[in-house]
Amino acid sequence: MNKFYVTTPIYYASDSPHIGTAYTTIAADILARWNRSKGKKVFFLTGLDEHGQKIEESALESGLTPQELVDSLAPKFKKTWENLNISNDDFIRTTEERHQKVVTEIIKRIFNNGDIYKGEYEGWYCIPDESFWTELQLVDGKCPQCGREVKKIREETYFFKLNKYQEKLLEFYNQNPDFISPETRKNEIINRVKEGLKDISITRTTVKWAIPFPFDKKHTVYVWVEALTNYISALDYPNGEKFKTFWPADVELMSKEINWFHSVIWPAMLFSAGIEPPKKNFIHGWLTVNGKKMSKSLGNVVDPNKIVEKYGADAFRYFLMREIPFGQDGDFSEKALLNRYNSELADQLGNLLNRVLVLVEKNFDGIVPKPLESSKLAKLALNIPKAVDDSMESFQFHNALNDIFYFVSEANKYINETKPWEIKDKGKLGGILYELLEVLRFLSILLYPFIPETSEKIIEQLGLEKKFSFEDLKWGVLKPGTKIKRGEILFKKIET
Ligand code: MSP
Repeated sequence: MNKFYVTTPIYYASDSPHIGTAYTTIAADILARWNRSKGKKVFFLTGLDEHGQKIEESALESGLTPQELVDSLAPKFKKTWENLNISNDDFIRTTEERHQKVVTEIIKRIFNNGDIYKGEYEGWYCIPDESFWTELQLVDGKCPQCGREVKKIREETYFFKLNKYQEKLLEFYNQNPDFISPETRKNEIINRVKEGLKDISITRTTVKWAIPFPFDKKHTVYVWVEALTNYISALDYPNGEKFKTFWPADVELMSKEINWFHSVIWPAMLFSAGIEPPKKNFIHGWLTVNGKKMSKSLGNVVDPNKIVEKYGADAFRYFLMREIPFGQDGDFSEKALLNRYNSELADQLGNLLNRVLVLVEKNFDGIVPKPLESSKLAKLALNIPKAVDDSMESFQFHNALNDIFYFVSEANKYINETKPWEIKDKGKLGGILYELLEVLRFLSILLYPFIPETSEKIIEQLGLEKKFSFEDLKWGVLKPGTKIKRGEILFKKIET
């Protein structure tokens, strides 16, 4: 089926978006745009995790009700994604009724399958991560995941029989070797599952800001169980057309701290409810800022909106994807961004467009000249799309950009070597410029998922319709006689 469903985690509506959450959302956007360019029917979901103890406590701290807190944050997220040109098809909030309905439905299915039983939970709880830990798992008495304080809890609870799914999960990982990527993240999960799975607590009696547990009004549903369900509640499970079209998800993106929930608990819940698991979880790396972990207490949390104001959305998107091999940890610094901005976006890409269009204006009154029979760049153009597509399909965004920028630098080199300004033969000069214009058209399509605003500017300046389709990656589509419309330069250099 020619569809593609990509998701981001739903971010906690307890804080404003930052460059970490922006990173995942930009990556999802790139995949969504790429797949749209390939002609697929795409559904791209992001949203907010609005229930649970973490939100309850944050609200209390800021003197708001939980509803007021999440209502104040939702527009901030939406605005930030707009500023970053995120093309999500839906934005789910877990306080919405459509979500609560599906959570109740899935709990009922799991219950009716005999996988929920009553008991008592005693152990530790990390509120910032909303996660349960045993005494043994703690590191120096703190949360092994985030290093923060944990609270002892002892409560009546309903358990989900996670243990029952141990063998089934291992078999599933075995049969679907691409379910968790990269490999190291997969091995971590498999090893942990092999060590044995404990049934997990899925209800709380002390958390009120949550969805009621349908079988016992004293209890509410554990926030992670409801949060994971967002991926199908946004599709109107069980009867919605969207569910029929888009489930299972083609890829769920996240970073490693929540891999366990997505690669163990979520598929086990789905097995129990009789629903197919997603096709893939891709676990990307963790961003630091100037080499340090980003945290409120360090005061180094970077607001993506500020970066967009200074450098534009495209420069930020480009930097993150070019700088950090997707799947590995990486660092954000404005200095590194500025370097790439000046030397790659301004000097290489921006300059290429400007040089070529100026030459076409000067020599052909801005009219696209006729091609020659043979073309050096056409040969490159034949191979680049496939190479880029292979990288995109394996989430190697930095490799895709490397290949695209190789194309840019080859085109610049071609200008330097052929010296069009010295060529007297109009036919030959026209042929060379035609090649360069075609390269620019290819570039606008290939770069569109990464830097959509810039791609739109390129295609407009080429005098063409704003359309970015993989099908048009064929040499010779640009018609001689087209009037170019040279505009502003793409990236003004910024003094360091
Ligand atoms: N609400 C849960 C997710 C529920 S999904 C069913 C949650 N929210 S979160 O706000 O903490 O977002 C975590 C996700 O944000 C990470 O998995 C990652 O996608 C992204 N990132 C947050 N900080 C990050 C970095 N510093 N670096 C890279 N990505 C990070 O967990």
